[in-house]
Amino acid sequence: MEILISEEAIRARVVELGRAIEDEYRDRQLTIVAVLTGSLVFLADLMRQIRIPHRVGLYLASSYAGAVTEPGPELRIDRRFQPDVAGRDVLLLDDILDTGRTLGTLATGLREQGAASVRVAVLLRKLGRQVVPIEPDYVGFEIPDAFVVGYGLDFDDDYRHLPYIAVLDGRGQ
Ligand code: XMP
Repeated sequence: MEILISEEAIRARVVELGRAIEDEYRDRQLTIVAVLTGSLVFLADLMRQIRIPHRVGLYLASSYAGAVTEPGPELRIDRRFQPDVAGRDVLLLDDILDTGRTLGTLATGLREQGAASVRVAVLLRKLGRQVVPIEPDYVGFEIPDAFVVGYGLDFDDDYRHLPYIAVLDGRGQ
């Protein structure tokens, strides 16, 4: 496993993102809606760097099934923990923008539910993979087309605890 983004680099970038987001949403009613499970660590760190009042809601979405590194055809979304977003300024948060299917679907749904605005923040943007045209407003890091783990991202539900982002090689190591 090769470290792609160090713990220190992530920490510094999350502070920058937090400052930019709090400047943007000062005097507005911010609701962060995060896509679990991958964005769990990013959410926990980022929300503590956004020093203005905000609500947090959650989606549980999955498109990768088990020990595979390619998305499956079916995107499953559990909306049970999503707050009421009507009239709220929503920041949709995910760990990684890959094909864009997840965030594209969720952003459309939030607009349909009457959100006053919908912006998108991702820790990672994987280059050369996007098929759904969605432009994130906040991007932590752009990365090459490789399967990455750590800082919330998993392979077969493992490696989420790593404090850095690493590239997983073909044998899952
Ligand atoms: P889409 O294709 O909808 O995918 O943009 C977004 C979701 O796919 C997962 N994903 C990854 N998970 N390493 C991971 O651990 C990766 O390199 C990777 N690429 C995509 C992730 O759950 C994300 O929310």
